[in-house]
Amino acid sequence: MSASTAPNLIAAVSEARQWDRLMELAKLGAITGTDGSPGVNRACLTPLDREARRLVISWAEGLGLAVSVDEIGNLFLRHEGTDPAAAPVLTGSHMDTQPNGGRFDGIWGVIAALEAVQAIREAGVQTVRPIEVVAWTNEEGGRFAPGCMGSMAYAHYKPATAWDAVADHEGVTFRQALDEHRKAEADLSHRPLGGKPFAYLEAHIEQGPRLEAEGKDIGVVTGIQGSRWFIVEVRGETAHAGTSPVSTRRDAVQDMVRAINALNALMTDPTDVLRFTVGQIEVMPNTSNTVADVARFTIDFRHPDKELLIANGDAIEPTIRSAVKSCDVTVTERFHALPVEFDPLVTDAVQAAADAQGLASLALPSGAFHDAQFMVPLCPTGMIFVPCRKGVSHNPAEYSTPGQLAAGARVLAAALVDLANR
Ligand code: GLV
Ligand code: MN
Ligand code: MN
Repeated sequence: MSASTAPNLIAAVSEARQWDRLMELAKLGAITGTDGSPGVNRACLTPLDREARRLVISWAEGLGLAVSVDEIGNLFLRHEGTDPAAAPVLTGSHMDTQPNGGRFDGIWGVIAALEAVQAIREAGVQTVRPIEVVAWTNEEGGRFAPGCMGSMAYAHYKPATAWDAVADHEGVTFRQALDEHRKAEADLSHRPLGGKPFAYLEAHIEQGPRLEAEGKDIGVVTGIQGSRWFIVEVRGETAHAGTSPVSTRRDAVQDMVRAINALNALMTDPTDVLRFTVGQIEVMPNTSNTVADVARFTIDFRHPDKELLIANGDAIEPTIRSAVKSCDVTVTERFHALPVEFDPLVTDAVQAAADAQGLASLALPSGAFHDAQFMVPLCPTGMIFVPCRKGVSHNPAEYSTPGQLAAGARVLAAALVDLANR
């Protein structure tokens, strides 16, 4: 069914209801940015995360959707199809945020999916296939690295136990947090991990500047660039800052600086396509008059080209080893997502929905990673982007207007109905 044959569906998407829900959720973990912007800090598997999930569940139950959770905490809200045995269309995103996050990254994809399903139900539009709204566990990787754990486990890319030992800043492991979380949600119906959806469609703010700059309403996402995450530990020896000769020191900070400088040279890209970030540094014992014996830093490296992602990613460890002077190093890779291209079955459905609604669209790739990346091997996958102000994201100043978000939800609703009737 195309959007043009279901005007009542488009009219049933409520801009006000979607916005009010987003603003209700933004209260849970509300923070204020340095410029006064209202942001959110809601880490995964925390009491705040659970409160947000309960709120979404209450809305879903009010609608009559069937609620279930799997062993890694992924949350599913199911709208039944006329053929309950048919493979479902899966749609959603994540509800966790970065520590200094905004009100839209992730959560809008879940709320847009709920809005789309509510509109489908209120408009009395039937779908042959069930539609399942999903909220994936730990997409951000802000509390427990890496991100996308819920979708990786669902896709059997990794077992759900793969990250048991990963600890947050307080030393709480992912396993401990997940066990506590599952106890708190023991009243919810449990479903087996994984599935074989007919298609997956995720709505998200663009997190980049292109749609706004080019005056477009909808991004028809063509694929996602590859990402590799590493953690590097440099180990030397503590010494007195006033007495130990510099020539005899095993200074972990100085070797870390040498390593980062060498990596910057490796990752130099005149075309400015490559993304290389050292975003987190820890130093021990972290006092001003002791030479540090441990320096740890993270690497986030991304590129759309698979060969380059592999070549430069594989060169990271040797580059660090030849740069350090006196310390020992360990380099651990903890995330490896290859570039993906989305399936025309889904991208065409998004394009057709945008066109039928008279919305201006742009085909573009995603620089951010998303849970959609791990759905690609499972089923035809795609994403819808909406513009966000100045492309700002992972920042409390992140903003899309109620109207931009409503347009995205309308395209999502139409594309879901289209896919769910194939
Ligand atoms: C997702 O949050 C990313 O870092 O791309
Ligand atoms: Mn996100
Ligand atoms: Mn994010």
